[in-house]
Amino acid sequence: MPLSSSHVVNIADLRAMARRRLPRMVFDYIDGGADAEVTLRENSRIFEDVTFRPQCAVALDACALQTTVLGHTLALPFLLAPVGSSRMFWPRGEAVAAKEAGMAGTAYILSTLSGTRLEEVRAASTGPCWYQVYLVGGRDVALGAIARAKAAGYTALVVTVDTPVAGLRERDVRNGARELISRRPLTMLPYLGQMLARPRWLIDFFGDGGLMKFPNIELADGPMGYADVGSALEQSVVCWNDLRWIRDAWNGPIVIKGIHTGDDARRAVDAGADAIVVSNHGGRQLDTVAPTLRVLPEIVAAIDGRIEVLLDGGIRRGSDIVKALCLGARAALIGRAYAYGLGAAGGEGVARAIEILRADVLRTLKLLGCASVADLDRSYVDVPAAWDQNTRDAAASKTKTAAAARHWG
Ligand SMILES: Cc1cc2nc3c(=O)[nH]c(=O)nc-3n(C[C@H](O)[C@H](O)[C@H](O)COP(=O)(O)O)c2cc1C
Repeated sequence: MPLSSSHVVNIADLRAMARRRLPRMVFDYIDGGADAEVTLRENSRIFEDVTFRPQCAVALDACALQTTVLGHTLALPFLLAPVGSSRMFWPRGEAVAAKEAGMAGTAYILSTLSGTRLEEVRAASTGPCWYQVYLVGGRDVALGAIARAKAAGYTALVVTVDTPVAGLRERDVRNGARELISRRPLTMLPYLGQMLARPRWLIDFFGDGGLMKFPNIELADGPMGYADVGSALEQSVVCWNDLRWIRDAWNGPIVIKGIHTGDDARRAVDAGADAIVVSNHGGRQLDTVAPTLRVLPEIVAAIDGRIEVLLDGGIRRGSDIVKALCLGARAALIGRAYAYGLGAAGGEGVARAIEILRADVLRTLKLLGCASVADLDRSYVDVPAAWDQNTRDAAASKTKTAAAARHWG
């Protein structure tokens, strides 16, 4: 049954529904951030600092929402970000979300930490799918997944570079996330109540196999288990030099996800990236790093049109997406916005999240008097004065750091 548009008006409504259906541990895994969650909050709040400058009394018959990202024409200016363990939110969650992305005419990015086989996810969607790589398990394991992704028809590789160690998600610690995946009954016992309090979810979860493995991380003794993620991430830091062998193995478009500064944006260009995602992992990694919208102008200036710039972090309304496009992003990625939908109601919830944001973007364009997302630019927004100064400073330091970057080899 489609979710009623009068009951689920915005993404916050989907979040509330997800909170009601999911055990606390699973809801907080989606909802939470690192440490004091300063960046998590700021990622969303920062959109309030950017204000619109509409052109009024403009008659528009229709507004064009489509955009082109890495050669794909997308019906919407946003894609679905990689969200690990989506299968915990809903049975076969990754395939369910990918299907909805395809039906809406946009792309889905599958996390390495997927609970569903990458071939099954690719087959579920009629739209483009990209594969996000962590080097967990080492180079050979990653090469195996990259070869499978290529054979299955994924069209871009997303290399996430902001996870040299897992951030401290305090809610996960308090909820006993580690204990609950320990498979030791006595250790699990104090935390089982939160699961039992959500019998509907429990039935779905066990009906789906009670997942405890990552089927796209094939170790010598079989797929990697949940308990091993933290240490595996620490042993698999991605460095710029890794881009070389990844490029040789992939031989297609590469997106670097997790760029925060103009300097690293230039390094990504030098390393041969085709696009970057300005991202702080949704405030889940280094807390008090600046919100992504705040660093977007600096990064756009540093990239200077050489490759495509995408942005994620904090997007809960279509107007947030429009602001990111005005400041130079080619498209946005949404993470929690659709993950709440998946946790709330599976495919229906993801479809509703996408529809809410699509309608928001369309309405915002009409209110701005702008005929197409392709026409959005800086003239449609005001930013605080300090932002412009930073962008000028970053542009001025471009020549200096470009010379330094040549030493990277
Ligand atoms: C539950 C959850 C799991 C995530 N897992 C991954 C992941 O496996 N790989 C990755 O690159 N990013 C991961 N991310 C980060 C998202 O791709 C994206 O950067 C972030 O969610 C954007 O912020 P938003 O949630 O505020 O939209 C995850 C985010 C969430 C909320």
